[in-house]
Amino acid sequence: ISKNLRGDDEENASLISALPSDVGFDGTKLFKYQGCWHDSTSLQGILNFQRGFKPQDTDIIVASFPKCGTTWLKALIVALLERSNHSCDDHPLLLDNPHGLVPFPELRLFMETSKPDLTSITSSPRLFSTHMPLHTLRVALKNSPCKIVYVWRDVKDALVSFWYFKCAILKIEEERSMLESMFDSFCSGVINYGPFWEHVLSYWKGSMKDLKSVLFLKYEELKTEPHVQLKKLAEFLGCPFTVEEERGSVEEILELCSLRNLKNLEINKTGRTTRGAAHKNFFRKGEVGGSKNYLTPQMEKRIDMIIAEHFQGSDLEF
Ligand code: A3P
Repeated sequence: ISKNLRGDDEENASLISALPSDVGFDGTKLFKYQGCWHDSTSLQGILNFQRGFKPQDTDIIVASFPKCGTTWLKALIVALLERSNHSCDDHPLLLDNPHGLVPFPELRLFMETSKPDLTSITSSPRLFSTHMPLHTLRVALKNSPCKIVYVWRDVKDALVSFWYFKCAILKIEEERSMLESMFDSFCSGVINYGPFWEHVLSYWKGSMKDLKSVLFLKYEELKTEPHVQLKKLAEFLGCPFTVEEERGSVEEILELCSLRNLKNLEINKTGRTTRGAAHKNFFRKGEVGGSKNYLTPQMEKRIDMIIAEHFQGSDLEF
């Protein structure tokens, strides 16, 4: 194993050192790999994952740009797939945070090696999640027909959510100056996993090309029409609701996965992820348009224009 580890590390180091680099809003060095920016830790995880992942046809991948609704989507998928296996008391969502149940290869499983032991993942189908853009993920998936569900959201709300999250993780007051430098990074695209538009477009184009393998969801639509979106998700994953289930099960899943409910579960009030992040930081307000309370009209206009420019010609509405 140690030989493998050294092999991975050396190969990664030489690959990374040849990439274009820049500095993110917080001083972290970022590297441009396959069109998007990554810090060296997640990039090593990405490279290991691309090299060593052995996909199974039934795998399901939950994909997102950070702070766009990943936790919610993970919870919904777990609840959908587990709906006939558990009673209210022993449900996996009561025992672990959605991030514990649906691990990130690049940030956890493959962070240190291209050959992790995945035997502890016993769920069937296996569930993974990622913040990689689609073209980068595809390298790891080889030609697997596995299903990918993507969620994104208004860039302004993602930005403010990220700001709050970062401050909570660092245990500091929300400083305006940090929001402003994050804003500049979002606009230039030099942010972990960014540019935002590059990321969203990769999955949008992927879903247009192959509706059966990529489902493209929007946080705002999940909020406004949760029943419709949940049924769409169930159909896409090959586990549609029966007429019988439509009466109660849809509502039960939405309630179980609601922000209010998840936030108040003991495991999410007190637990931590394997990387030490407090579960509670993944649940805040979950509002649509809340960013207008933090961004000036000029900031909103600037970032909207940048996104519009990049989305032009894609038919993607935002
Ligand atoms: P806000 O910071 O705007 O409240 P991610 O899961 O990708 O990290 O995204 C975090 C955002 O999703 C946060 O947004 C968080 O409050 C919101 N969120 C988390 N769980 C949710 C749920 N069950 N329903 C709706 N929104 C949720």
